[in-house]
Amino acid sequence: MHRLVYTSTQAVPLNPEDFERLCEQASSRNQRLGLSGILLFNGQEFLQCLEGDHAQITEVFKPITQDSRHRDIQIHCFGPVADRLFTGWGMQGIHLGPNRPASEAKTAFDYLDAQLHRSWQSLGAGVLNVVMEYGQVKAEMEKAPQRRALLSDHGG
Ligand SMILES: Cc1cc2nc3c(=O)[nH]c(=O)nc-3n(C[C@H](O)[C@H](O)[C@H](O)COP(=O)(O)O)c2cc1C
Repeated sequence: MHRLVYTSTQAVPLNPEDFERLCEQASSRNQRLGLSGILLFNGQEFLQCLEGDHAQITEVFKPITQDSRHRDIQIHCFGPVADRLFTGWGMQGIHLGPNRPASEAKTAFDYLDAQLHRSWQSLGAGVLNVVMEYGQVKAEMEKAPQRRALLSDHGG
């Protein structure tokens, strides 16, 4: 089991529908290849985590690096890990909306979103913490069945 985390900058404007379509296509392909992960988009940058076998990650990542919709790809980690963080999520797209103050956050995801409105490229290896936090929120939501509705609200 390997995990790859990278950030990149969008090269052409993507509206929410374009982003959703991208994630749907990515998700069905990734699921076929036994990959899981998340793709965060804040309107300017992408932050993606891909997990699965080394060979399958490489197979999917090659066309990603050649995709003209983004540039400045920076790999923050690509190495072996014990477990998946995003089991069941082929490629969960999370489009972060306009920044809202943390005081208005209603769910753990809202709270996390409010923390995330900053440049990921400049965080360097700190983006790994962002990915881990998402993994933790997913795990907590799944442990608490009554909160699953909130998770699916968020597109999970
Ligand atoms: C930021 C970003 C992330 C992407 N992530 C994935 C992904 O996880 N899986 C995937 O199959 N395609 C992903 N794509 C799309 C691929 O770059 C490519 O368009 C897709 O694999 C289809 O390639 P093809 O037209 O050569 O078949 C992503 C594209 C972008 C811009």
